[in-house]
Amino acid sequence: MCGIVGYIGNKKATPILLNGLSQLEYRGYDSAGISTIEKDKISLMKDKGRVKNLYDLTGIDSLEGTVGIAHTRWATHGKPSKENSHPHMDNSNTFSVVHNGIIENYNELRAFLTDKGYNFLSETDSEVIPNLIHYYYQKENKKEKGSFLTAFKNACLDLKGSFSIAGICLDFPDNMIVVRKDSPLVIGNSETENYISSDIPAILSFTKKFYFLNDLEFAVLYRDNIVFFDKNLSIIHKECQNISWNASSAEKNGFDDYMLKEIYEQPTAIRETIGFRLQEDGTCNLDELNFSKPYLSLINQIYIIACGTAMHAGLAGKVCIEKLCKIPTQVDIASEFRYRDPLIDTSTLCIFISQSGETADTIAALKLARSKGAKTIAISNVIGSSITREADYCIYTHAGPEIAVASTKAYTSQIVLLNILAIHLAEILETQDPKIISNLKKEILQLPKKIEETLKCSEVIKSFAKTVYSEKDMFFLGRGIDETVAREASLKLKEISYIHSESYPAGELKHGPIALIENGVTVIGILTDSTLVEKSISNIQEVITRGAKTLIITNQNIENSMFDLVVKIPQTSPFISPILSVVPMQLFAYYISKEKGLDVDKPRNLAKSVTVE
Ligand code: AGP
Ligand code: GLU
Repeated sequence: MCGIVGYIGNKKATPILLNGLSQLEYRGYDSAGISTIEKDKISLMKDKGRVKNLYDLTGIDSLEGTVGIAHTRWATHGKPSKENSHPHMDNSNTFSVVHNGIIENYNELRAFLTDKGYNFLSETDSEVIPNLIHYYYQKENKKEKGSFLTAFKNACLDLKGSFSIAGICLDFPDNMIVVRKDSPLVIGNSETENYISSDIPAILSFTKKFYFLNDLEFAVLYRDNIVFFDKNLSIIHKECQNISWNASSAEKNGFDDYMLKEIYEQPTAIRETIGFRLQEDGTCNLDELNFSKPYLSLINQIYIIACGTAMHAGLAGKVCIEKLCKIPTQVDIASEFRYRDPLIDTSTLCIFISQSGETADTIAALKLARSKGAKTIAISNVIGSSITREADYCIYTHAGPEIAVASTKAYTSQIVLLNILAIHLAEILETQDPKIISNLKKEILQLPKKIEETLKCSEVIKSFAKTVYSEKDMFFLGRGIDETVAREASLKLKEISYIHSESYPAGELKHGPIALIENGVTVIGILTDSTLVEKSISNIQEVITRGAKTLIITNQNIENSMFDLVVKIPQTSPFISPILSVVPMQLFAYYISKEKGLDVDKPRNLAKSVTVE
């Protein structure tokens, strides 16, 4: 959600900052701004609206500074406006600061600073930060080596809430200071210049070497050096990590939209997720985990905790974990889990799924689980993200950067990884017939080819989308694991087409929602479970007689004539069928959104990673 970029080097900072902000646009924002250190002042250029508006601001071309910070804001405190946009400066114009997150105690800090004579120009919570830095700076031996850092640190330790903050100071034109707590920020390093960003893809074209801060760690960036400090300002050592993603993987590569590109990337993404973890000879390795049989035998329940699409992947994962490992597994929405005093203890294994690894609710749920003694595994797509550093173990999906707000390849790669995890645990625990496991392994290895096959439905889905895009209501139905896909399909459609949709277990329709079925409603059935297909067909017949248009996604041989469209997908193991059946659903949402002329990649009101509660 929203973003920060910063640059310190020998080149003009403004073009680099503006480019970085454009790369972060997909995260969702309402205002943008930049600050650079010029000869005798700190520049400040900001406004509400799009990043491209900044290019037109008078004077922006004449900025020569080689140190700067920039921001896209997703307003939490105060409406989107020029005054509320970041960066914010202190009253003396010595400090400029950008902030992502929420300062929960800003009222108290604002009253304290007002009492000391400080004025506020915006309604934001963030504006207390530069003034608080100034307040502490006054108390220091100003311009002394270290005084900017000490003042910055003292101010940040007074803040409650979530924040990633970058600050520059007119008296220290060769420094930039950053800190983070429960909000994302990465540092990109190259020999004579350094970068900061809210995520890796935005600065991938400049460097592949990254440092990651833990909560309340500070970094002072120079042109040719970075020094890291803990919250007591003791110097700490950090390992630099090399990121293997390449810059082009964060570009559209000829596709109209990131979402379409990412849908088509699924065969490759799944190959990467499988990687060396599953070999042709049947070996299954999850080197990231070191569970022993005695330890695993003590586990009496598993929780899978996540939000949105990641939670839907968890619902599919539950099916294979329970069947293969014979351990009761619950799936919980992170924002519910964290507030309902869940019954977990040292015999509980908690799996947290988050593509971005920065979702505030999921991170909070993870902290809660740890505090209760549960073992925690994070499944994430972003190396070094917060969740991966908080959990006891971390396994990466390796799906490559996912830029579109609507998640596609992350979902399918998460289900693959949950299946591999289930296999790994079941092999240690010896809880399932090796033949069943061996068959599942073969099916997983065939997935990339079968997704390629499934993608061939694109044109027919596109044509169907043209016939229903103007409708107001759609229903997605399924039973068993298909119902979990129905939920994901419904979320995808809502997110990018703004059409109201619901998902239901097919058998539940007659208990109420069928009252909504009439002419002009489309019902989509996902039917891959051979044991339930007849029953689901009966449910769908009930909606046809009430005037609904129908689309069926199936791997079964069914009588086509009664439905408006039947899309046939390849057969696979029921545990992983969502990975194939979701593909036509992703395309359906995509083409409906295109038909309506909407911005597929940046749907209204949504952000790629939800870093606030
Ligand atoms: C997916 O299409 C959504 N944009 C959203 O539900 C998302 O999956 C959710 O916010 C969780 O994100 P995460 O995987 O980064 O934690
Ligand atoms: N809470 C701050 C504001 O409303 C920062 C929001 C953000 O993360 O962009 O300005």
